[in-house]
Amino acid sequence: MQEVRGVIARGKGAPVEVTTIRVPDPGPGEAVVRVQTCGVCHTDLHYREGGINDDFPFLLGHEAAGIVETVGAGVTDVAPGDFVILNWRAVCGTCRACLRGRPWYCFNTHNATQPMTLTDGTPLAPALGIGAFIEKTLVHAGQCTKVDPSARPAAVGLLGCGVMAGLGAAINTGQVGRGDSVAVIGCGGVGDGAVAGARLAGVAKIIAVDADPRKLEWARGFGATHTVNAKETDPVAAIQELTGGFGADVVIEAVGRPETYKQAFYARDLAGTVVLVGVPTPEMTLELPLLDVFGRGGALKSSWYGDCLPSRDFPLLVDLYQQGRLDLDAFVTEEVPLDGVEAAFAKMHTGDVLRSVVVL
Ligand SMILES: NC(=O)c1ccc[n+]([C@@H]2O[C@H](COP(=O)([O-])OP(=O)(O)OC[C@H]3O[C@@H](n4cnc5c(N)ncnc54)[C@H](O)[C@@H]3O)[C@@H](O)[C@H]2O)c1
Ligand SMILES: [Zn+2]
Ligand SMILES: [Zn+2]
Repeated sequence: MQEVRGVIARGKGAPVEVTTIRVPDPGPGEAVVRVQTCGVCHTDLHYREGGINDDFPFLLGHEAAGIVETVGAGVTDVAPGDFVILNWRAVCGTCRACLRGRPWYCFNTHNATQPMTLTDGTPLAPALGIGAFIEKTLVHAGQCTKVDPSARPAAVGLLGCGVMAGLGAAINTGQVGRGDSVAVIGCGGVGDGAVAGARLAGVAKIIAVDADPRKLEWARGFGATHTVNAKETDPVAAIQELTGGFGADVVIEAVGRPETYKQAFYARDLAGTVVLVGVPTPEMTLELPLLDVFGRGGALKSSWYGDCLPSRDFPLLVDLYQQGRLDLDAFVTEEVPLDGVEAAFAKMHTGDVLRSVVVL
């Protein structure tokens, strides 16, 4: 066991705090990772606002890169010294999704079984089974994906959640391709990941929608060919106008609200696809005329973690980054210390950042 500093959320809406946390030595199948960087994702804020569940206190942070420090018995895929990106999809190989050959849906992903605790023994619930706003974290070894050690941790660590979720929402869930028109509603780290994914897939028309003009400017950098300011223009009418009056073939919702979901629903062409990657909160409901659901056809999909397989996707995307074909650096607006998470949440609200990345 060792004692390190980490960021916890004690209760609904209370500001996060840096405190001392006990990290057990790795048991069978587990690894302790020295965290180098961890991005601040909107999902961390959802946790601290009680929007995910009530399992306080949470150990926040889940978008991380680091170096494996020690491994437990039976761990063969990673070793001390390996540079890894942490993932929240360590597939089990035996659940009904895995057995059907669809491991990206794995319903029984592995996490560490021993809890990290406060010094009084209170167990912490790690965000998305990771908990990485901390000097060292305990995870299942399957949550560590080895990648090119010469890559910049602050940039490639973002593949651990938001950027991968967005990229995968476009490429894997939305299956976007060259001939498609694609619209992305909400251009934070996740939405811009979707824009970047559409560009990687060769999409010629990429429409970025956001309520903040700075976000639209950033989205252009990632490959948006058209932008729509949702504060000034009705996004549905604007997307239709940009697509010959019909709507986009694939619309990706990366906000997580009923009103933006409805926009996505009506801004797609007949038989088009809506991909919901934004995470709603428990009180949100959606009402749609069933006739429209039927009559507009196509597919209404959710994207969990971009339907990614970390072992397949992380090394490949890091290689694209190293080759200059995927600009992960552009997602990193600022690097902040461990006690900068609360301020990073505030900047998320005012739209000043795409990603704040905690550097340890
Ligand atoms: N499905 C997944 O696996 C997964 C993974 C990570 C994050 N998420 C979720 O994705 C969402 C986005 O995360 P993020 O980190 O990019 O958040 P963010 O706060 O950085 O970005 C949200 C963006 O939406 C914009 N926005 C807000 N209201 C809008 C509106 N009415 N119309 C247009 N744009 C609007 C904001 O200006 C901002 O740019 C969150 O709900 C997060 O929880 C999902
Ligand atoms: Zn499984
Ligand atoms: Zn996240």
